Amino acid sequence: MVSEEQKNELLKVACQVRSIAYAPYSKYSVGAAILTEDGRIFSGVNVENASHSLAICAERSAIFSAVTAGVRRILAIAVCTENAGSPCGACRQVLSEFSGDIPVWLSDDKGNVRETTLHVLLPDFFGPHHLIAD
Ligand code: THU
Repeated sequence: MVSEEQKNELLKVACQVRSIAYAPYSKYSVGAAILTEDGRIFSGVNVENASHSLAICAERSAIFSAVTAGVRRILAIAVCTENAGSPCGACRQVLSEFSGDIPVWLSDDKGNVRETTLHVLLPDFFGPHHLIAD
């Protein structure tokens, strides 16, 4: 279970790191923070590129940081944008690799938060159970 304190900390970190997002092309800065099973928080921001298709989303940036640190179980995620935008499909799918039906908190830059869950955002996701064993 994720405590109210952990939820607030995730939202705080997501909105703090948003200010260091590198988004000169879209001007849409995103900050993300994930809580992992060991109680740590990993953050990420979107990082764009002059070659536009090379941009990485904040959510995947945070997830890859956790996996790089050896942590593979995610318990919750908070995402902060100017308008409480929802994670893109690619980030939902990557999140599903490392979590179950976790809480997803979406905050705007005024602190308004809406709550959903990963399986509401990504029902019937593709998973390892679809792969045919050899
Ligand atoms: N972006 C994210 O960081 N996360 C999402 O889930 C949606 C989109 C970024 C990618 C790009 O840098 C900018 O937002 C506009 O699409």
